[in-house]
Amino acid sequence: MVDLSLQVFGATFQNPILLASGTCGYGQEYSGVIDVDALGGIVTKAVTPKRRRGNLPTRITETPAGMINSIGLANVGLEGFKREKLPWIQENLRSAQVLVNVAGWTVEDFVGVVEGLNEEVGFLGYEINVSCPNVKGGTLFGTDEKALAVLVKALRESTSRPLIIKLTPNVPDIGVFAEICEANGADGLSTINTFPGMVIDVDTRRAVIGNETGGVSGPAILPMGVYATRVAATRVDLPVIGIGGVRNAKDALQYLLAGASLIQIGTAMFVDPFTAPEVVAGISEFCEKHGVGEISELIGALEA
Ligand SMILES: Cc1cc2nc3c(=O)[nH]c(=O)nc-3n(C[C@H](O)[C@H](O)[C@H](O)COP(=O)(O)O)c2cc1C
Repeated sequence: MVDLSLQVFGATFQNPILLASGTCGYGQEYSGVIDVDALGGIVTKAVTPKRRRGNLPTRITETPAGMINSIGLANVGLEGFKREKLPWIQENLRSAQVLVNVAGWTVEDFVGVVEGLNEEVGFLGYEINVSCPNVKGGTLFGTDEKALAVLVKALRESTSRPLIIKLTPNVPDIGVFAEICEANGADGLSTINTFPGMVIDVDTRRAVIGNETGGVSGPAILPMGVYATRVAATRVDLPVIGIGGVRNAKDALQYLLAGASLIQIGTAMFVDPFTAPEVVAGISEFCEKHGVGEISELIGALEA
């Protein structure tokens, strides 16, 4: 295997592949299946100030090229994360990097979770979910330029750890939102979260998802994710994490060429839990075949 390690956010990632937030629990859920610690890293399920049961079922269903979900940020909450989830991460994820995904409804919610975790060890930094389309109420920070600026600034003041803002594609120009994050002190961006969508059962004439609408993910959104990554990477000087629709090494390589330093895989892991290690192996084969000595040679190497 070619050495796929790279330095991002002041840390070493042994390879560029991470499991996406909300699709791998807190890492432990995959531990009997794949060697999670051999991946570049994981992003935890969103952590909110308090434990949440989430939305009523049905919460997920398949779509023609992926899936739609409306989980409603079901999670163990800040204290539950510290007590029930972090010890396993600290014990078992020694080589893989861990980002804690944070969600909330107000600036205080986000800052409270970050400040509540700052003293803990066992994770690198935060991925801030400003783009959850599935929860009613609160500010949609990801689509409001002023609110996003205030949030990123407040978070920057609350931690010296890497601060990565996960953007929604549901805006006219994601580059504007990328620039706002950079101007207010973010260390990186994740592009993208899911697209809002809906599936209707024509027999019952009801929406299939209990919450009516949800977020669409999987292969259907691959070109949009690659596009958003390209736009973000060309507009700011921050490392970008590419997300959306990755199923194989070629998909992941598209993100690298578009300018992503790291890549996350979500939906594809529900289809085949060996996807992530296979993508790592596939990138390594590609590098060997094409004489790529270091993974960094591929980042943003799109021929214009
Ligand atoms: C069931 C499910 C739950 C998710 N939960 C979260 C979450 O808690 N926080 C978040 O930022 N993104 C969440 N996401 C979005 C994913 O992290 C990812 O951005 C999206 O699914 C696109 O990647 P994919 O096509 O590889 O799945 C969730 C996605 C799915 C399918």
